[in-house]
Amino acid sequence: MAAPVRLSVPTAADMHALGHDLARLVRAGDLVILDGELGAGKTQLAQGIGQGLGVRGPVISPTFVLSRVHPSLNAGPTLIHVDAYRLSGAAELDDLDIEADMPDGVTVIEWGRGLAESLNADRLDITIERGPDPDDDTRLVTVHPVGRRWDDLLADWEAIVNQDMGRDAEGDRHG
Ligand SMILES: Nc1ncnc2c1ncn2[C@@H]1O[C@H](COP(=O)(O)OP(=O)(O)OP(=O)(O)O)[C@@H](O)[C@H]1O
Ligand SMILES: [Mg+2]
Repeated sequence: MAAPVRLSVPTAADMHALGHDLARLVRAGDLVILDGELGAGKTQLAQGIGQGLGVRGPVISPTFVLSRVHPSLNAGPTLIHVDAYRLSGAAELDDLDIEADMPDGVTVIEWGRGLAESLNADRLDITIERGPDPDDDTRLVTVHPVGRRWDDLLADWEAIVNQDMGRDAEGDRHG
């Protein structure tokens, strides 16, 4: 099983860039579950993924619509963006009926922890945390791979991310 990747993300723009990098890793059928408190940066990351995939926007936090399918502008996978904050359980997630769309898209579910895991045995569980200093916007992002799909992929991807962020690939690695 691939080890989790921990990254420190200083700004919202960096969170977008991380989303771009994630878009290079994922393919149609993949599931990404985003966890983190209100305002952590889940939607920022989803927007970056959407831009990286090249889907029709805007990717926003849906107030009434709980899930949205963003079609690709380049014959790639769609982005299926779900905000599960208001869902009371897995049955309500079922009711959104995203499963029919999932094979053709990358599914990103904010607040999906504890609800969405059964949608795919292979998935990325991503947690976004604020640091202790209220004056510091830096977020700590942990990408936790679940399933064989990521066995060899994640290490290569981590090298790309660290290159993009101008850092030494060993710097932030936790095993
Ligand atoms: N390092 C950072 N990474 C991400 N967002 C940041 C960062 N620094 C500041 N921000 C700001 O934090 C806010 C994050 O909002 P966002 O909507 O992405 O959070 P969220 O986790 O989706 O919240 P919600 O649970 O309400 O959906 C944005 O206003 C963004 O500009
Ligand atoms: Mg959000």
